[in-house]
Amino acid sequence: MADHGVPVVRWADTPEGPVLALLDQTRLPAEETELICEDAQALVAAIRALSVRGAPLLGVAGGYGVALGAVRGHDVADVADRLASARPTAVNLAAGVRRVEGAHRAALDDGAGAEQAAAAALAEARALHEEDAEASERMAQLGHELLGDLVRRTPMRLLTHCNTGMLVSGGRGTAFAVVSQVHAAGELQKLWVDETRPLLQGARLTAYEATREGMPFSVLADGAAGSLFSAGEVDAVLIGADRIAADGSVANKVGSYPLSVLARHHGVPFVVVAPVTTVDLATKRGADIVVEQRPSEEVTHVSSPYAPYHPEARGERGGGIPVAPMGADAYNPAFDVTPPELVTAIVTERGVISPVTSETVAGLCSPSRTT
Ligand code: MRU
Repeated sequence: MADHGVPVVRWADTPEGPVLALLDQTRLPAEETELICEDAQALVAAIRALSVRGAPLLGVAGGYGVALGAVRGHDVADVADRLASARPTAVNLAAGVRRVEGAHRAALDDGAGAEQAAAAALAEARALHEEDAEASERMAQLGHELLGDLVRRTPMRLLTHCNTGMLVSGGRGTAFAVVSQVHAAGELQKLWVDETRPLLQGARLTAYEATREGMPFSVLADGAAGSLFSAGEVDAVLIGADRIAADGSVANKVGSYPLSVLARHHGVPFVVVAPVTTVDLATKRGADIVVEQRPSEEVTHVSSPYAPYHPEARGERGGGIPVAPMGADAYNPAFDVTPPELVTAIVTERGVISPVTSETVAGLCSPSRTT
């Protein structure tokens, strides 16, 4: 489990009944505070506000949300539908939700009573949580080995985008877990942290995690990455993923695709680190991935945990500081899609694929493949 003073997600039994307690990521790095969700509706709001976020953790939280609905005696199918559709791009969310819903339904089909079926749902959510922690540990090792092959220079200068560490996982995370492994081996010269506009997951969250781990790092404005590449200051790019299509296209935080183009131009490896649950064979091509569009105000206003953005106060006092004329429209896709030919390798807990093609992605997901 993540080594935080406040766990990123925690099931808690209170005198009023069970709740899901989340480390509220909108408040980081200013405060480590918990957001208490008493029901699925509160969890859906927390997911939309990005209080809980990042693909693997969305799956874990969604799974617990279904268990919460079951334990509280709510309509589990309805709860599952609402949770699964809270955000559209990270496939882990719907996968986690459906897995726990399936365990609940199977228990009922086997003749369990409501209480036993709810217990089965909670056990499945806990199993998902544990598996995610184990997967991140394995990805950290495999990613570290891969970098040893790809990068001829140590210590390394690695560049990452968005946030992919303990805050997005039951364990150490995805791309950041690899960076952490490199650092633990004494092989990290510098972590370049893209600030990740508009919601600053890099500046707020990755810099927070890097600080906690004592890593050498610098935050940069997203647009500064090009000059870093041209100065020869990046040895590899490591990012996570929200959905990997059957053809190997990778949806990740907006700004990832431009990095892949820069990396290719400068001959730098571009490595994606994600658990197999992020691969969605039902999504055939990158163009089929639904990219979440978020409110204009996230772009036209800036906010920080020291001056929080409140979605319900769009453009008004409390909605951040305007940086564009009031009422300005904005283009705000939360993710972009990198085509497989620009991805050097995908690291999963089941192994590494390179090159990234429909065939290697299918092989990764084949039931016969275990490591
Ligand atoms: O909108 P967010 O903050 O949920 O986006 C998160 C990302 O894009 C991460 O890079 C992705 O989920 C991979 S994390 C393992």
